[in-house]
Amino acid sequence: MATDPLELEALARDARDPLAAFRDEFLVPPHAGGEQAYLCGNSLGLQPRATRDAIMVELDDWRELAVEAHFRGRNPWMPYHELVRAHLAELAGALPQEVVAMNSLTTNLHLMMVSFYRPDATRNAILIEKRAFPSDRHAVESQVRFHGHDPATALIELDGDGEHGVLSLASIERALREHGPRIALVMLPGVQYLTGQVLPLREIARLAHAAGARVGFDLAHAMGNVPVDLHDCGADFAVWCSYKYLNSGPGAVAGCFVHERHARAGLPRFAGWWGHRQDTRFRMGPDFEATPGAEGWQLSNPPILALAPLKVSLEIFHRASIARLREKSLALTGWLATLIERECGEVLDIVTPSDPAQRGCQLSLRVKGPRDAGRSLFEHLNADGVVGDWREPDVIRIAPTPLYNRHADCLRFVRSVVAWSKRS
Ligand SMILES: Cc1ncc(COP(=O)(O)O)c(C=O)c1O
Repeated sequence: MATDPLELEALARDARDPLAAFRDEFLVPPHAGGEQAYLCGNSLGLQPRATRDAIMVELDDWRELAVEAHFRGRNPWMPYHELVRAHLAELAGALPQEVVAMNSLTTNLHLMMVSFYRPDATRNAILIEKRAFPSDRHAVESQVRFHGHDPATALIELDGDGEHGVLSLASIERALREHGPRIALVMLPGVQYLTGQVLPLREIARLAHAAGARVGFDLAHAMGNVPVDLHDCGADFAVWCSYKYLNSGPGAVAGCFVHERHARAGLPRFAGWWGHRQDTRFRMGPDFEATPGAEGWQLSNPPILALAPLKVSLEIFHRASIARLREKSLALTGWLATLIERECGEVLDIVTPSDPAQRGCQLSLRVKGPRDAGRSLFEHLNADGVVGDWREPDVIRIAPTPLYNRHADCLRFVRSVVAWSKRS
């Protein structure tokens, strides 16, 4: 029987959690005869118990039916993407025809820029953040070069101007005012990977469009973490991965959003046969006719064995509902932030904004002291079965995800930090 007041509080909070049963749908890695306090869903989400069977169904249909499984499988492969479309749209706040599951995040970002970054002699710049995720930075820079422009002038980089390097809307507005006529594309994240800051997508889209630019978002850290309303916010496109909060496994099939207003706009694109109209695709003609909507950007027939985990995951999100998950997330991360300030305020700074509207489930933390102290804490946490991740130069990211984390996991983290601080 627990008698420790904080432990009792964690247990009471977890007992009141209406989403508590979802944890049992996931496989939590073992640690020292128990389970890890896995707080790393921002990097790789846990495996749903149902995933293995979902993959086995497709392997068995392949064994039993081979090519015929395209039409006669338990989940016929030909229209398999339709099994994820509705739930994906629900999570993205989009119309079904605005989303598609395909490729990987960076591949989709390139495909989107082929269509939405159309530089000319005067309007050829891309507005990004200085601390953009390296893959985004490589993608935009290589696109700029590919079009014959110079990244030294055609990449406009926003420096975090707020506390701990977070980005203010005012700084985005300023950059658009100053460079607006030069900017062809605004490319920003939904949740910044290093600081955990949630950006105001609707306002950014409005400002970008008012300046005459197109706008796209990288939602790697937003999808499944915070509610998004891609259709209403007016973004031209968005891309995301599915191995983080979407729990679809390493290298999972990513997602892509193209706003409805571009569905039939005849935008230039890199095409492949799976983007061709479904009803005439198998006539095997030489002329490309795009499927209206996001599916028109598909290149290849999709990897069914990789879509099966996404289907499982999206069904879980549908049952849990992103609105209810957000409600729990606010409580869970709010409690963790309070505990950190109260119990380890002398050891840790919270980098993520304290305004709940400006953060998702992740808290980015910095050890007060040299980088080595941060590494030492990170290694101590790992050895203690408390799993977060480390991002250079000195940030520990801790993400209590509402689908499978409990208040007890947050308390384990805090207790482990306190033990480390007493020891070192
Ligand atoms: C914010 C962000 N953008 C892009 C990527 C790259 O994703 P991928 O390797 O799936 O293309 C990641 C990967 O973690 C990421 O966190």
